[in-house]
Amino acid sequence: MPITTVVFDAYGTLFDVNAAAMQAAEEPAHADLAAVWPALARDWRLKQLQYTWLRAVAGQHCDFWQVTQDGLDWALEAQGLRSDATRARLLELYWELAAYAEVPAMLAALKAQGKATAILSNGSPDMLHAAVKSAGISDTLDAVLSVEDVGVFKPHDRVYDLVGDHFACTKAEVLFVSSNGWDAAGAAGYGFQTAWVNRAGEPMDRLYAKPHHVLPDLTPIPELT
Ligand code: LAC
Repeated sequence: MPITTVVFDAYGTLFDVNAAAMQAAEEPAHADLAAVWPALARDWRLKQLQYTWLRAVAGQHCDFWQVTQDGLDWALEAQGLRSDATRARLLELYWELAAYAEVPAMLAALKAQGKATAILSNGSPDMLHAAVKSAGISDTLDAVLSVEDVGVFKPHDRVYDLVGDHFACTKAEVLFVSSNGWDAAGAAGYGFQTAWVNRAGEPMDRLYAKPHHVLPDLTPIPELT
């Protein structure tokens, strides 16, 4: 069945989650980040995601802004960083993360092909709308879908159901794109066509399903549809 609808994960896939720590580390006011920002960014992301999975399993949902702050607080403490100003700056930058360089042209190519395009993310609606606006990509996205509509994080099926509910399409018509291996696997298990964007050259997750495509970045997406 032809792909009619291309759906993207947001954080790590369209938006560079390391950009906040990298940028703050370049600012004189946050020089204490210079030597540790890569480890801080890695811990921040890992804890943020772990907290989403744990809260989903435990039935203890809160929004993604809360787990983003909780993950950062763990990561700052692990590095012995105590500056309230650094914490505030890192969180501020999370609302205006840079999109990867190929994103605008890739989305424009999909729209030129007549595809429906969307974000499906753990992010809360206000976080996602700020990031989309800051990246200047709102004109090439037909929908921004947030887990807040179902109150549970990925990879719960109720999250992936939001796509069919919104676009009235079948699972087989959807290409779901994520740089998170576990998200691509979850979406493949759900029944979407999937592409895993493996920018970091990581091993494939050993889970219950595998992505259909593995790509180095987002550039080839329009050729898959
Ligand atoms: C998201 C997280 C998983 O945007 O990156 O849903």
